[in-house]
Amino acid sequence: MCDDELIPPSADMTEEQWLRADPALAEGPVGERVREMRAPRRRTVLGGVMAGAAALAALPGGTQAPAAAATAPTGKFPLPTGPGRSGEYTVLLTGDAGTGEEAQHAVAAAAREICRVQGVGLAVGLGDNLYENGPESADDSEFRTKFEEPNSGVDVPWLMVLGNHDCSGLIPGSGGDPSRGDREVSYAKGSPRWYMPSRYYNVTLPAAGQGDPLVEFFAIDTNPVSSYVAQLDPYYRWNGPYMREQRRWLDSALKASRARWKIVLGHHPYLNNGKHGSAGSYDGFVIGHYTSGIHLKELYEEVVCGRADLILSGHDHTLQILEPTTRTGGTRQIVCGAASKAGDGKAHFGHPATWQNFSDHGFMVLKVSERAMTVDAYTVDIATRRARLAHSVRTAAGREVLSRG
Ligand SMILES: [Fe+2]
Repeated sequence: MCDDELIPPSADMTEEQWLRADPALAEGPVGERVREMRAPRRRTVLGGVMAGAAALAALPGGTQAPAAAATAPTGKFPLPTGPGRSGEYTVLLTGDAGTGEEAQHAVAAAAREICRVQGVGLAVGLGDNLYENGPESADDSEFRTKFEEPNSGVDVPWLMVLGNHDCSGLIPGSGGDPSRGDREVSYAKGSPRWYMPSRYYNVTLPAAGQGDPLVEFFAIDTNPVSSYVAQLDPYYRWNGPYMREQRRWLDSALKASRARWKIVLGHHPYLNNGKHGSAGSYDGFVIGHYTSGIHLKELYEEVVCGRADLILSGHDHTLQILEPTTRTGGTRQIVCGAASKAGDGKAHFGHPATWQNFSDHGFMVLKVSERAMTVDAYTVDIATRRARLAHSVRTAAGREVLSRG
């Protein structure tokens, strides 16, 4: 169970206003962190390539690296060039992983075994990659301790997106300093597995024969329109150049895509039955431009819904496979944010769900073929580091059968 997330006393405060309004924040661990963030950099640094190489050398005994372990001439694990023998791409989905604590290592170990057996060729990290405040630099040692080491042996490209904890300023999780995300983009240049060519990007995977791609991923940065605090840098304001450019790019990329399946990756969910709630009313806030996520709701509804087959998100530390509905235009929301923290054990909202779990740690495996997508949800027992297949959902065409919602 996770109860360490900080929620501001009102919507759209600046970080400084939040600290003044909640003096208790200045005490204890958060106060220490605030002082640390204001002090000169303290954490040790390792070169990104060195961190990646160290992780490569740290393959656990007896673990066979998947076939993709050979790196491309660039030093990066290569993207899959075609579906596997089963005609499918097999993709590991994780979210909210980067604590470096035992639960992350246990979930990663369980996922590594499933990846080995199933021949996973690609992985996704749905944000909050480095708790609590994101990287101090592009070669922060936390890239090694909170990503490379736990995930050693899953030697495939990891499509990473930025979460609020990757872009925080003084207050853990605030999302108040998006510029910190640039360090994760820089780190990707030297890591064999961390894939983040820019703050938002797309990746296309080909079909078996000639013709249109089989699947296209659209990784987006949801933070400037979902942060707990107001953005101070005009570039990252909800209606500033960055979000306008990203919206234009996403709109035209989705429109231009000829892929059989289109999948949007964004840390903050559109719909969510967990405690953080859905875009437009995150954490009970329904006013302002930032904390409520109202402008992310607009982005999802005006640009994504009805065009993408899936929205994959984290942020809530739960596992949810929601139903595609008329409200979503047939797009299915999946929340997969339990790779290091677990939920509070109960549903807070009632969006139609195929399957959901609010108690366990876990991850998912997505299989994509010409005819169908399958999502396997695994829960993980932290003590034994074992995964259990909790549910499997097969979608014929994603948008064919709509339930009301
Ligand atoms: Fe988050």
